[in-house]
Amino acid sequence: LTIGIDVGTQGTKGLVLNLASGEVLVRASASYGLIEGLAPGAAEQHPDTWLKATQVVVARLLESVDPGRIVGIGVSGQQHGFVPLDARGEVIRPAKLWCDTATTVEARELSERFGHHLPVGYTASKILWLARHEPEHFARLAHVLLPHDWINFQLTGRMTMEAGDASGTGLFDPRERRFASQALEALGELCESRSSIADLLPPLIGPSDLAGEVDRRGARTFGLEPGVPVSAGGGDNMMSAIGSGATRPGIVVASLGTSGTVFTHATEPIVDPEGLIAPFCDSTGGWLPLLCVMNATGVTEEVRTAFGYDGAEGLARITREAERVPIGCDGVTFLPYLAGERVPDLPHARGSLLGLRPGSLRPGVLFRAALEGTSLNLAWGVERMRALGVPVDTVRLVGGGANSPLWRQILADVLDAPVTALAEPESAALGAAIQAGCSNDRSGTAPNGVDALASALVRVADATTEPAPASVARYRELGVAFRARVLEV
Ligand code: XUL
Repeated sequence: LTIGIDVGTQGTKGLVLNLASGEVLVRASASYGLIEGLAPGAAEQHPDTWLKATQVVVARLLESVDPGRIVGIGVSGQQHGFVPLDARGEVIRPAKLWCDTATTVEARELSERFGHHLPVGYTASKILWLARHEPEHFARLAHVLLPHDWINFQLTGRMTMEAGDASGTGLFDPRERRFASQALEALGELCESRSSIADLLPPLIGPSDLAGEVDRRGARTFGLEPGVPVSAGGGDNMMSAIGSGATRPGIVVASLGTSGTVFTHATEPIVDPEGLIAPFCDSTGGWLPLLCVMNATGVTEEVRTAFGYDGAEGLARITREAERVPIGCDGVTFLPYLAGERVPDLPHARGSLLGLRPGSLRPGVLFRAALEGTSLNLAWGVERMRALGVPVDTVRLVGGGANSPLWRQILADVLDAPVTALAEPESAALGAAIQAGCSNDRSGTAPNGVDALASALVRVADATTEPAPASVARYRELGVAFRARVLEV
């Protein structure tokens, strides 16, 4: 058995995987939010929040599984988050997250220095922000980790980083799979840093290396047995690629979580000259061209909770009401940029509701407008992917939004591609558990490699949602109008 953990933005999820049968034996989760009351655009969490949630999740998993049967652990984490540590390995301040747009000025400045677009949210701009805004904290900075690296550190006592997550720092050359010395030097100069930025980064490990083994402190912290192998782990999109079978070309995955992403496995790096599609490495030795939008389930959740449709029952009710609203919401358009946006590059954008008339302000209308607005925005980025030669012909859908048949239909129509949900929507936790099963000899599956194990274990749901030709044509018109409105606002 292996454990997979995914440290996300809205919560931490975990599961126990039976490597022999492919069955997920038990799942657990613990939710949390962002730190409240920060400056506009700032999105931060304290790593201790992740630690506590991971403790709760592992404890729940081990209520039904004997810790002695666990042969490996893998950790997935939200990408890009900047965990600043001092020389003793203590956290200096809360982590600035992938969705933090407070460092836009720094991202723009670095883009100029690097000679290519550095999307807002990548780690490099947060390091420069710290140097500029909190010099006393920057002076103490001795180590830079990403969220999943930090949980690995709590488990093993070792600091490491791997190529997939490292490619989201903005300091990494995904083509060469190593840190980019020019970017490190440019950042060092702008930070007026005494020590080199390279010295702040931990050693890189390969995708099938171990981050380490659970040490005594890790065992006490998490209730695990000392010596359990901890795999390299990775960014949530890289782990999700494994957990949804996108470890070989031809499988495209869309994820509707706090962020919306679309990605696929590639055997060579795919570089977008405009920098909108990320040229990430994956966590199997290949690449993961990826589109990320910052507004997905956060937007639909905002509408649901604003109208008091609580819990699963409330979600089912507001979805039924949205199903009765016609495509296009009688002219209501939701520009979904509540969190600013990365693609299109509008970090300071805000959300807007356009086209309201008497009777428009009904929960079903606004919920459908949120589903349509987020989907049309995602489709805009997908067009860019297609233009770069990444075919998006059929889509595997994961993340919280995958549970909604209405959203699946809207996405199939908007992307003009059949959409299939996966049996396990928590694909990042599953991917981490699969990787853990391939990274050490105890599991007995190591020689097969991640692709073989993922392809054997990942199951798609029975039904596929086909695009409906009339709706595809209607959404095409709506997409043109949507983009024109975004550019106007
Ligand atoms: C990807 C990205 C998000 C986070 C969410 O570039 O920023 O998908 O990984 O956890």
